[in-house]
Amino acid sequence: MTDDRLVTTGLRDSEDEAERTVRPRTLREYIGQESVKESLSIYLQAALRRREALDHLLLYGPPGLGKTTLANIIAAEMGRSIRITSGPAIERPGDLASILTNLAAGDVLFIDEIHRMSRVVEEVLYPAMEDFALDIMIGKGPSAKSIRLDLPKFTLVGATTRAGQLSAPLRDRFGILFRLQLYTVDELSIIITNAARILKVSAEADGVNEIARRSRGTPRIANRLLRRVRDYAQVRAEGTITRAVAKEALDLQAVDDIGLDRVDRSMLEAMIRRFGGGPVGLDTLAATTGEDAITIEDVYEPYLLQIGFIMRTPRGRVALPAAYQHLGFAPPTESRDGGSEQLSLEL
Ligand SMILES: Nc1ncnc2c1ncn2[C@@H]1O[C@H](COP(=O)(O)OP(=O)(O)OP(=O)(O)O)[C@@H](O)[C@H]1O
Ligand SMILES: [Mg+2]
Repeated sequence: MTDDRLVTTGLRDSEDEAERTVRPRTLREYIGQESVKESLSIYLQAALRRREALDHLLLYGPPGLGKTTLANIIAAEMGRSIRITSGPAIERPGDLASILTNLAAGDVLFIDEIHRMSRVVEEVLYPAMEDFALDIMIGKGPSAKSIRLDLPKFTLVGATTRAGQLSAPLRDRFGILFRLQLYTVDELSIIITNAARILKVSAEADGVNEIARRSRGTPRIANRLLRRVRDYAQVRAEGTITRAVAKEALDLQAVDDIGLDRVDRSMLEAMIRRFGGGPVGLDTLAATTGEDAITIEDVYEPYLLQIGFIMRTPRGRVALPAAYQHLGFAPPTESRDGGSEQLSLEL
């Protein structure tokens, strides 16, 4: 999910390309995340007025919510260049040192998946972030000495889907922390309308709304579903995205009317059928659905939690009545986890 691949091939390539074409370039075009935008625009204006680099900034939240987009916008709004890399791509301390020494004052260094950076690389980053300095060792053994190189004052923008995995010293060196939230259907509708205009697809408001409702609060999914519905509209309909066309196209993709796909449904079904609604541990869920635990936690759970289909408890995940109803199961009669005592008291 990083952008620093110089060479990409195959299908992913055209999807990446499509994603770049519809990516907003200014803060004004960036829809939603109102509180983030308001704070950010204050910090940007203040930094510009003082002719300083913006403070280091950490963006976190589920995939596809606009972290990379925002990093690019920050550089554009500051009128500076952006250098994009990712935690796993920086293999050795020397790799990071060469990136840092090639930055100009005010530049943005964007490190995606920053939680996956190695410890030794991270240690180079500490003095760079704090003192804009690079400590390098010259020579080996007893005669080795460390010299300090000054770096230009840059802005580090880190992005992660898992802020909890960042080490405390690294997290503490960010002056600004923003958590991105899932988008509302109205916000997604604006994003889809804008993307449809860029892609030159005609779409009725009802058709847009149908796609937005099935996009799980996530702009990347909204844009992807839009492209699939566009294909369907061109081949099977007159080219215009109406509600009926969107419905048919997305049913065909096995994306249901609230955006759940096969994996969501099989996960919920396993929780209800095989584990009496839970609590079920994450690893057990991973084993039953064939998805890995990280994907379940990062990609599937945020939306299911948001719409009140599941709940996290210390003993695992629990399916809630709304999930039973959506999948056509009779809701649980008696609540688990101590809830039953309360029930009997009331009776
Ligand atoms: N606020 C927004 N307004 C309009 N479009 C957006 C917004 N946020 C994201 N998008 C669209 O969604 C797509 C995905 O966004 P982006 O790549 O920035 O997500 P991400 O958070 O970096 O994801 P990942 O965690 O997978 O790296 C972009 O191509 C962009 O077009
Ligand atoms: Mg990204």
